[in-house]
Amino acid sequence: MLVLGIESTAHTFGAAVVAEKKGKISVLSNECFKYPSTKEGYIPRKLADFHAEHWNEAAEAALSKAGKALDGIDAFAYSQGPGIGHCLHVGWVAAKTLSLLCGKPLVPVNHTVAHVEVGKWWCKAKNPLVVYVSGGNTQIAALQKQDHNRHSHYRVFGETLDIGLGNFLDQVGRGLELEPPDAVGVLKEAAKGKALLPLPYTVKGMSVAYAGLLTKTKKMKGTAPAADICYSAQEYAFSALVEATERCLCHTRNPEVLLCGGNARNRRLQEMLRLMSEEQGARFCVTPDDLSGDQAGMIALTGLLMLKAKAVPRDAEPRQRMRLDEPEIKW
Ligand SMILES: Nc1ncnc2c1ncn2[C@@H]1O[C@H](COP(=O)(O)OP(=O)(O)OP(=O)(O)O)[C@@H](O)[C@H]1O
Ligand SMILES: [Mg+2]
Repeated sequence: MLVLGIESTAHTFGAAVVAEKKGKISVLSNECFKYPSTKEGYIPRKLADFHAEHWNEAAEAALSKAGKALDGIDAFAYSQGPGIGHCLHVGWVAAKTLSLLCGKPLVPVNHTVAHVEVGKWWCKAKNPLVVYVSGGNTQIAALQKQDHNRHSHYRVFGETLDIGLGNFLDQVGRGLELEPPDAVGVLKEAAKGKALLPLPYTVKGMSVAYAGLLTKTKKMKGTAPAADICYSAQEYAFSALVEATERCLCHTRNPEVLLCGGNARNRRLQEMLRLMSEEQGARFCVTPDDLSGDQAGMIALTGLLMLKAKAVPRDAEPRQRMRLDEPEIKW
């Protein structure tokens, strides 16, 4: 079975081809066109124009890299949400056009579930406590069986009470005018930092909050070296997340901890979570860099799992708000 996936929830337009042969799944291609981080942040209309300009180039590149023809594709999966309305719409129209043209099913995929599923697949994790960190999302969750073990859903044990970890770091990067003005700029600058400056630290049960930390960090601009501000911002934000995850792990006792989402590429966060997980006797897993951020490989893969489990929802229109704990996980 061959599935072509499309991703367009925010800054990235992606197309990918995933194959399943004798039960073995492989990502044959995973093409991304990313709108660059700029000082003005992301403007929905500009992102949508960028996606509309690149969608067929991305789909063609994904097919040619995979060495497959359009008429060989068995289904078209697309990111249904959560995301920015303008951007989701472009991906939906692209996937629907291909699906109608080829007479093959359209599979709407929950983007948050896809971030988790691709990590589980790559790391061969059986039952992980998931730490999903990206621009818009920061959640600590695990699969829970309900109704006499027949139905499973992700249960979110803890999450950010305000902004996502990635949005926090991106705003610090923009505020301090780093290059690039995002979480990558913060990570680079933090590597040069030495002093741990006093900042707010908010953990509530198994949840975290970053808005106070952001306000304080912004006010510190010019009062301390940018490297120390970045170093401290990362240490406080990551410590809060690790504390909340450890509390959750002590409760759930999952055998694995899986770090996924765009900010899973942060080596300092990986190091801190690995240490805590191993101290607690859990195997630490992390999605590889090329499958961490927004890309279509995870959408095609999750679409394939949904097709095999006959779990394709009827309602295929894009939705700006969708959560990890909403869908039934049948695979
Ligand atoms: N190499 C990297 N190392 C660390 N962080 C990175 C790296 N590349 C990107 N990031 C950060 O990852 C985050 C983006 O994550 P992702 O690509 O999953 O997008 P998103 O639109 O925020 O996703 P979601 O819809 O899942 O909330 C941003 O904070 C970005 O700055
Ligand atoms: Mg994402």
